[in-house]
Amino acid sequence: MDYLQIVGPTKLSGSVDISGAKNAALPLIAMTLLAKNEVTINNLPNVVDIKTLVKLLSNLGATVDLKKETVKIDTCCLTNTKATYDIVKTMRASILVLGPLLSRFGHCEVSLPGGCAIGQRPIDLHLKALEQMGAEISIEAGYVLAKAPDGLKGAHIVFDKITVTGTANIVMAAALAKGKTIITNAALEPEVVQLCEVLKGAGISIDGIGSSELTIYGTDRRLVEIEPFEIIPDRIEAGTYMCAAAITNSEVTINKIRPEHLEAVSSKLEQMGFTLDVKPSSITVKPTKSIKAVDIITQEFPAFPTDMQAQFLTLCTQADGVSLIEERLFENRFMHVSELQRLGADIKLKGNSATVIGKVKLVGADVMATDLRASSALVLAAMVAKGTTNVHRIYHLDRGYVELEKKLQKLGANIKRLKE
Ligand code: UD1
Repeated sequence: MDYLQIVGPTKLSGSVDISGAKNAALPLIAMTLLAKNEVTINNLPNVVDIKTLVKLLSNLGATVDLKKETVKIDTCCLTNTKATYDIVKTMRASILVLGPLLSRFGHCEVSLPGGCAIGQRPIDLHLKALEQMGAEISIEAGYVLAKAPDGLKGAHIVFDKITVTGTANIVMAAALAKGKTIITNAALEPEVVQLCEVLKGAGISIDGIGSSELTIYGTDRRLVEIEPFEIIPDRIEAGTYMCAAAITNSEVTINKIRPEHLEAVSSKLEQMGFTLDVKPSSITVKPTKSIKAVDIITQEFPAFPTDMQAQFLTLCTQADGVSLIEERLFENRFMHVSELQRLGADIKLKGNSATVIGKVKLVGADVMATDLRASSALVLAAMVAKGTTNVHRIYHLDRGYVELEKKLQKLGANIKRLKE
């Protein structure tokens, strides 16, 4: 197993190029199940989660040609509709094949994803919406068995909670359903917007893209022709490098991004005292004399993302004063706190809130990554901790960050990947 060894404290400088967004790529790969042609996807992030979903499609019978940042997927001759446990258990987002498989074939079996480190993460909203569209769903032997012998029918879906993959799943199901589907309380995340735009480009009529009410006119099982497209930049990877610049109080330019997807993150850094130079496709973070404490509440887009909570919490350990961080999306997303405490952080947890007392001097130690974003938070902490930090279990990190250690080395960090 690999681990990362980081020697701190360190200053960073220069620029970093951001890769394609994992969370945009996942639904867009699942979307190829709706296509009659071979679909070419560019600017794919070369991370484990992408390989996992591509493997799932290949197991279903799709022809797949995965090069570093491009994948060509042809699902025309696909016959198998069972997404098995061995793959789904490694990545919850595998549930994204449920909507497209069911709408295209009228039946499918997808393993239940089960729990995960950051919380319970049920899929009840996905299933309820599909039932409203005419699906008959049962859970047997750990699998979701879904049937819609006459195809899915358009319906008015009102999500009780905003769900990102839930919205994506129902958009894809609705694309091949019969008639009109309205999704109220849809997710506004840029990754959902891109899915809708690519489907619209393929001839599916979708109104309200980017709003909380989407109206999708289905094709009644007619597959669509999808032109080659490019995945949007990863706003969470970008935000993580912005935090890397901030925590080391260095000047770093984050390139190949869409600053409009990062407004909540940028505004928090400005509140903390950092100056940002925002250009159409880059942001330069500039150092500050003193880092100010802030309060953060995680919410759905366009508010502050839960996927940036661990990184900002870490940054707050270096702010002067007390920061309060409230996690509103996932009940168990503070696993990184006990690892940060091993480095000397002063953090008090109560329910879904963390009180971070700064500024503390962190000291290197052995720590364990617990989930994807927690892993990057530990790397950030290690860059300001004095001495050597070993971050173990970085397979979490490899699920979602493209060559993190190489990108950080280029910025001047003292970081290397070693074998246990
Ligand atoms: C997606 C992102 C993840 C991000 C999260 C929130 C992908 C692949 N993953 O996860 O990185 O942290 O959005 O921005 O895009 N919920 C239910 N029932 C459901 C579905 C969700 O109760 O059927 C709850 C969840 O437990 C959670 C909230 O709704 O509390 C939001 O979850 P959701 O938006 O669905 O997260 P994901 O799509 O799994």
